[in-house]
Amino acid sequence: MTEPQLTLAQMAVNVLTTADGHEKTALSRRYAAAWRAARTGETAAIEVGQASPPLHPSRPDAPELLHPRDVPKRKPGSPQGRIALLHAVAHIELNAVDLHWDIIARFTHVPMPLGFYDDWVKSADEESKHFNLMCDCLASLGSHYGALPAHAGMWRAAEDTVDDLMGRLAVVPMVLEARGLDVTPGMIALFRKAGMTEAVDALEVIYSEEVAHVAYGAKWFNFLCGRDNLDPKAEFHALVQTYFHGALKPPFNEEKRADAGLPPDFYWPLADGEAPAYAR
Ligand SMILES: [Fe+2]
Ligand SMILES: [Fe+2]
Repeated sequence: MTEPQLTLAQMAVNVLTTADGHEKTALSRRYAAAWRAARTGETAAIEVGQASPPLHPSRPDAPELLHPRDVPKRKPGSPQGRIALLHAVAHIELNAVDLHWDIIARFTHVPMPLGFYDDWVKSADEESKHFNLMCDCLASLGSHYGALPAHAGMWRAAEDTVDDLMGRLAVVPMVLEARGLDVTPGMIALFRKAGMTEAVDALEVIYSEEVAHVAYGAKWFNFLCGRDNLDPKAEFHALVQTYFHGALKPPFNEEKRADAGLPPDFYWPLADGEAPAYAR
């Protein structure tokens, strides 16, 4: 007898309930390959199915998770500061793996085209690669993921939007992942200045692939607005104000945000300080 084929939602739950980072990302990449093979017709179709994702994904015992104000600040220009920065990015990437599988498993009751699942499976696969790239950089510097404390509360956006798909899209890809586009060029410059080519190359991969994750968010947000006859801009503002705590922080990477389908009048009115005339 052959093993019954897992549904995509069950695969997502298996990733979410795997604690170890390397095991989690290996499973994530294996399932992404299986989904791709099924979607291109190489193997039998995989159903999306339904599952019960946990409210919190499983995480390894280390790193210790601390309130952001208790995470020690290190000078970004120092060797220890650069290790801490790579560690923080690794933590974000592992969280992103779970965020993408969570959106797959969490909202199967909302009818969506299969392309919705293609996009998030691809994103989860890429985040898994990003986590491993950061772990390789840490290893080259004699460190590892778990060696330093990390921010608690990264899962808050997922918890807050646990039953609101549009809220999830607004806050996770269109606010949090878009923020990554704003800050990554500065990080790349910092590692380039330190002559750390492995970290520069890894961050360049992350930077180029993250644009698509934001774009998938904007694409499916607009899709849902169109289906429900809602004004995307007004809806985005209302949802971010409901679910995101605090103002968005300029400067914004307007060029990459535009590549991802985020116009200035979406994010500027939610920012600290006055929006430029073109973005009101
Ligand atoms: Fe990433
Ligand atoms: Fe991402």
